[in-house]
Parts: sequence; structure tokens; C-alpha cells
Amino acid sequence: MNNGHREQWASRIGFILAAAGSAVGLGNIWRFSYVAGEQGGAAFVFIYLIAILLIGYPLMVTEIAIGRKTQKNPIGAFKSLAPDTPWWIVGALGVLTAFVILSFYSVVAGWSLAYTFKAFGGFVPGLDYEGIFISHITDVYMPIFWHAAFMILTLVIIASGVVKGIQRWSKVLMPLLFAILLALVVRGLTLEGAGAGVAFYLTPDFTEISGETFLTALGQAFFTLSLGMGALITYGSYLSQKENVSDSAGWVVGMDTLVALLAGFAIFPAVFAIGFDPAGGVGLAFITLPAVFAEMPLGGLFGFLFFLLLTIAALTSAISLLEVVVAWLIDEKGWDRLKASMLMGLIIFVVGLPPTLGYSVLSGVTIFGMDILDTYDFLSGNILLPLGGLLTSIFAGYIWRAKSVIDEANNPKGKIVFGQWYGYVIQYLLPLAIGAVLIWGIISTFI
Ligand code: PHE
Ligand code: NA
Repeated sequence: MNNGHREQWASRIGFILAAAGSAVGLGNIWRFSYVAGEQGGAAFVFIYLIAILLIGYPLMVTEIAIGRKTQKNPIGAFKSLAPDTPWWIVGALGVLTAFVILSFYSVVAGWSLAYTFKAFGGFVPGLDYEGIFISHITDVYMPIFWHAAFMILTLVIIASGVVKGIQRWSKVLMPLLFAILLALVVRGLTLEGAGAGVAFYLTPDFTEISGETFLTALGQAFFTLSLGMGALITYGSYLSQKENVSDSAGWVVGMDTLVALLAGFAIFPAVFAIGFDPAGGVGLAFITLPAVFAEMPLGGLFGFLFFLLLTIAALTSAISLLEVVVAWLIDEKGWDRLKASMLMGLIIFVVGLPPTLGYSVLSGVTIFGMDILDTYDFLSGNILLPLGGLLTSIFAGYIWRAKSVIDEANNPKGKIVFGQWYGYVIQYLLPLAIGAVLIWGIISTFI
């Protein structure tokens, strides 16, 4: 594959679904609900939506355009657009970020995989779902087992290649996840006491927001759209010249946002109906949703299907993370796909051991008050991704130049046309907004 024949997505729908597969994942359900809950609900959601629209969408088009133009992995892409400059470091930062994200992402995906099996006959009314979750994560061996199982699934798919591996999986399963989420929304909203959750989710209270709220909302926008670390540069590199970039990106952003908003409607009304704490942290979805399934007819079956689909959604995101690393080894170092997938899968499994053990043997370890998994999550989502996005926007606006992005984004002609306005967005709005939120957010988080 490194002999001049780069694989390509088989169709436009193939690319959109693969990119949506990368975007839609644990970020929409697990991470979105827990950070929105911690940051006070509606005001956070409001800032998050603005970040998606003003920053996320233009940046997504930019990343896909860089990938399609160069047909390269992130490091190779920066090298080919700015040869003999240090800009390749931005690509390298992306590869590093992929390691950090995947190593804890796989741990949480492992919880989801475990819950797929727990659902069998297990989701019945009156159980202590908080206790069940805590006893799962504080066990030493089970989380390691599921983390390993998930990493093996990921590397098997990546080893089998872009079209056969990634595209096939992304196609059928997303609509099914969507359908179950809708059923959960209906059940959640009709629970007694759901109204308080709807209010929490929809009525903003701007008196509580801080720099940390802004940083978390921006970080969540990057995380959920797979931005700031080269996943979409890599996926764009497999996109044919026949497909329009700005339209395709529009679909991806739309689908991802819809799933996140629905997940909020499935989770927050139920949180209040059960009398649970919305700021409860990483366990929020894993504690609340089983309790909702318990109140549904055939709850065990739906619960099983839901966690199965959540695991698959996580898998289509995880493969986009691993693909960044593997594509770099194949393109730049001439490695064979199988060898690159196996070795990197193993390394990421090892880097994922500390967060896996962070609730059992390493539960005493905290960094700035965060446990190990929170630390990986905070570092990647709130620091590395926005930093990557900041540097990418400076690169696109001033080095590769806005005009080149506009040409690539509009080619061939599509419905959403990128005009001059994009120049202002990429040269001023993105660097200033991301830079300001990063600095203000870091200060307000740690001081
Ligand atoms: N977007 C994915 C999610 O929401 C996570 C992800 C982040 C995937 C960065 C690739 C790159 O779950
Ligand atoms: Na997402």
C-alpha cells in the first residue's frame, strides 16, 4: 500500500459514515453527559453548541482539506505542504494525542463491553446501579480483561485495512444505535420526576459559568468531532477528488451533534427521576442508563443492544485513533499494516494500564485532584486537542493559506460554499478564540 496505491473510500456515503463513525462514540454519550453534568447543564450545552458551529465545523473542513490535498498521514501532510519547516511537529503532536486518547478510551469502552454482558437479566428495578458500577471499576482484573478485549477488536479491524475494515463496520450500525437512543429518550422523559432534569438540561444559568466551563465546552467540541489530532486529516487522505469536502463535513457535524443532544435527553431527566447527582463524574451514563432500562419492558434486551451498539460506536472511533498512528508508520516508515497495528495496539494497551487500575490498586494516585483516567481525559481533551486545533488553524490561515483551503473545500462544487468569510474565520476567529479559551480555562481550572 505504500507503493503508490493509496486506498480510497468506496463512495461518498462510505466516507461520511466512516468520518461519522469516528465522530460518534463514547464522546457523545459517556463524555458529553458527564462533563455537561459537572459543568452545570444548559449553560454548558449552549456554549458547546456555539463552539461546534463557529469553531468545530470550519476546523473539520480544514482538516479534511489538508488530508485530501496531500493524501498523507498528519505528519506527512504538514511536511508536504510546508517542506523543511518545523510544522510537521503539529502532526507529531496529533500522533502523540492519539496514543493518550486511545489508551483511556479503550478502558471506558471496556466498561461498555462488560455492561453488554451484564445486561443479560441484570437490569431490573430496585438494584443499586451505583454500587454495581463501583464494584466493576474497583475490581483489579475485570477492567484489564475488557480493556484488552477492546484493544484486540480495534487492532483486528485496523489490520484488515481502510475499506474492508473501517467502512464496512460503520455502515449498518449507526442507524440502530439512533433508534435505541430514541426509545431511551421517550422512556426517560416519561419517568416520574423527569421535569427537573429537563430544566437542568434546557434552562441556562449563566451565573455559574467560568473559564473552566468554556474550556470544557471547547474541549468537548474538539473531542466529540475528532478534531485537533489528525484523525480527519488521515480520513480525508482516503477521500476521492470527486467528493465535496464542505458538504460531507456538514453531515458529520450534524449527525454527531444530534446524537449528543439526544443522549442528554436520555440521561438528564432520568438522573433527576432517580434522584442521582448530575455532577457524579465518569460513572454518570453507566449508572443512570441501566436504571432507565430497568424501568422498560424487555429492559435487559434493550440494555444488551444499547451497550453493544455503544461499544461498536466506540470501536469505529477507536479505529480512527489507531489509524492515525498506523498510517504514519506505513507512509513514513514503510512498515507493514499488520505489524504496525499489532505493535501499536500492544503499546496502547500498556499505556492504558494506569487508568485501568486507577480505581483499584492505583486509587491513591491523584494529579491536581483528578484520578488517573480523569487526568488522561483532561490532558487530551482540554489541552492537547485545543492546542492541536490552534496550531492547525494558524497553519491553514497563514502558511498553507486560506485561499488553498477554500479551493479544496469547494472542490468539486457542492451545496455549502466556502467564501472569503472563511479567511476571517481561520486567520482571526479560530486562533484568538481557541487561544483565549485555553489560557483563561487553564488559569481558572488550576488557580
Ligand atoms: N470523537 C470520538 C467520540 O466522540 C472520540 C475521538 C476523539 C475519536 C479524537 C478520534 C479522535 O467518541
Ligand atoms: Na463524538
